[in-house]
Amino acid sequence: MAIAIYPGSFDPITHGHIDIARRARKLFDRMFVAVVANPHKRPYFTLEERVEITQAALVEEGVNGIEVISFDGLLVDCAREHGADAIVRGLRANSDFEYEFQMALTNRDMAPEFESVFFMTAKRFSFLSSSIVKEISMYGGDVSTFVPKSVERALLGKLGHAG
Ligand code: COA
Repeated sequence: MAIAIYPGSFDPITHGHIDIARRARKLFDRMFVAVVANPHKRPYFTLEERVEITQAALVEEGVNGIEVISFDGLLVDCAREHGADAIVRGLRANSDFEYEFQMALTNRDMAPEFESVFFMTAKRFSFLSSSIVKEISMYGGDVSTFVPKSVERALLGKLGHAG
């Protein structure tokens, strides 16, 4: 049984992430989306909110059979704990490569038993990021093409505009 773990900040999850999760899910028997606590990033949503929002977004988009978990600490420890074989990551523009390359090689040094697997993003999401979505939302812009309705609601809720 092939098990994958797709880690990230998911602050918040976007259609770009969902596209990767949907495509990866087809290749693995079991899949976890792992939301990192990420002390070095100062997240907009709390860890609990990010887990909840991620879960709701996957359900809304019909991406089934994925378990959303959270972790604090090393990704390889979380992967080990969940019996993963592969770490899934998405690649957008060229600029992602160096960072992903460094992470993949470091993770392999620490834990050679995991394979890092990369999915090229869908063209229409190649310049999308969670920060862009947050910024557009903060200035009252329309984020409906970038995130599912449930994420839009969470963003509005955070801003105190609506529920
Ligand atoms: N579509 C849209 N956006 C995407 C995307 C996609 N397919 N793939 C990545 N992004 C964006 C995210 O929205 C995020 O945007 P932001 O910077 O505006 O928030 C950005 O790319 C990168 O975020 P993410 O993919 O969530 O990665 P990360 O850098 O926040 O975290 C971890 C990466 C969790 C894998 C890494 O930090 C980790 O492993 N942490 C645990 C500690 C550890 O083991 N460290 C050693 C690693 S060698």
